[in-house]
Amino acid sequence: MPSIDETTIENPKPTINNTLTDSYGRAIRDLRVSLTDRCNFRCFYCLPSTKPTLNQKANILTFEELAEICAIFVELGIEKIRLTGGEPLLRKNIDRLIATLSDLKRPQSENESRRLKDLALTTNGYLFPPMAENLKAAGLDRITLSLDSLKRERFEKITEVDALDKVFESIEAARRVGLAPIKVNAVIVRGWNEDEIVDFARFAREQDVKMRFIEFMPLDSDGDWKREQVVPGREMFAAIDAVYPLELVESSRGNETSWKYRFKDGAPGEIGIIAPVTEMFCGACSRIRLTADGQIRTCLFSRVEYDLRDELRRGANRAEIAGFIRAAVNKKEPRHYINDSEFAPASRSMSFIGG
Ligand code: GTP
Ligand code: 5AD
Ligand code: SF4
Repeated sequence: MPSIDETTIENPKPTINNTLTDSYGRAIRDLRVSLTDRCNFRCFYCLPSTKPTLNQKANILTFEELAEICAIFVELGIEKIRLTGGEPLLRKNIDRLIATLSDLKRPQSENESRRLKDLALTTNGYLFPPMAENLKAAGLDRITLSLDSLKRERFEKITEVDALDKVFESIEAARRVGLAPIKVNAVIVRGWNEDEIVDFARFAREQDVKMRFIEFMPLDSDGDWKREQVVPGREMFAAIDAVYPLELVESSRGNETSWKYRFKDGAPGEIGIIAPVTEMFCGACSRIRLTADGQIRTCLFSRVEYDLRDELRRGANRAEIAGFIRAAVNKKEPRHYINDSEFAPASRSMSFIGG
């Protein structure tokens, strides 16, 4: 098998058995579904000036279509589904979709392992508090909140919305309804918030949340990303470790994006460092993505998409759809090329793809 991080995808192997496996032997178990490209925030690292471009009614997948597609993905071996956006809570009656997807946690065939094991949501938290109870009741397992500053004015500068308190409320609401463990994403960008790294670590301890420190990736809609703005994961780790000594969680990594650490002094909370730019983790990638308009993206940085919506709407049967998904997975890129001189940006920005 070729070394995934060094080769190009020139020598594909056919998929094996019934699981979703790409041409590099990576098992695909994690599906990220973007429910809309709309967002009520304007985070500078994501979609500062872009207006939503999808004609919402005609173009985006209906809940029925999403349910059908997700059921097929689960039959193919997907175990984790994360709902993202834009802002997924802008989709009306999202609790109904969650309830339907939650049914996929029951075994889909005689094979007990063929079932959804984890249903998660990434949200900016603005609309979340009053919805928390319903979402939990509908079968949501986990939630990730975005939080890029603990300072009210800076939070507003980053997101263009004065809503820091809503995120704090969301953490409380998630805890109250039992949506634990709560993850909190902070994209750390030089010149914006790297001075808050230790404050975020303290926040993780005080609030008992899993804080994720994420390197800034070139996925912003304005194309303003600059290498100098990337705060390397090692630098984030060192800043935290100097104040709150950390130790690696043994089970760390696997197919996950982060290196995970606990506090040596036994304090609650967890630190995760996600460093896709300086420490690529594509070799263990288990992820595939579906955009709100029904396009399969095999990598965050893909420059091609596979039109599953068209396949579905032309009346393809389940076997044909499964075949279409397999064929797309088989073309999954070996890695991203952010650090190559010929790096060409992804065909769509993060607000379409979903974190
Ligand atoms: P779970 O394992 O589902 O709990 O999620 P996670 O720990 O991987 O975190 P999450 O899905 O919330 O992703 C956190 C952030 O990591 C995203 O917002 C992205 O910035 C980044 N990320 C997630 N998946 C990928 C990926 O496949 N490639 C790269 N380069 N970055 C990713
Ligand atoms: N770089 C890294 N992460 C990003 N996200 C959005 N844009 C970027 C980017 N350019 C992630 C954030 C947010 C999630 C929805 O997507 O972590 O919480
Ligand atoms: Fe997977 Fe692409 Fe992310 Fe690498 S950049 S981990 S291949 S989605």
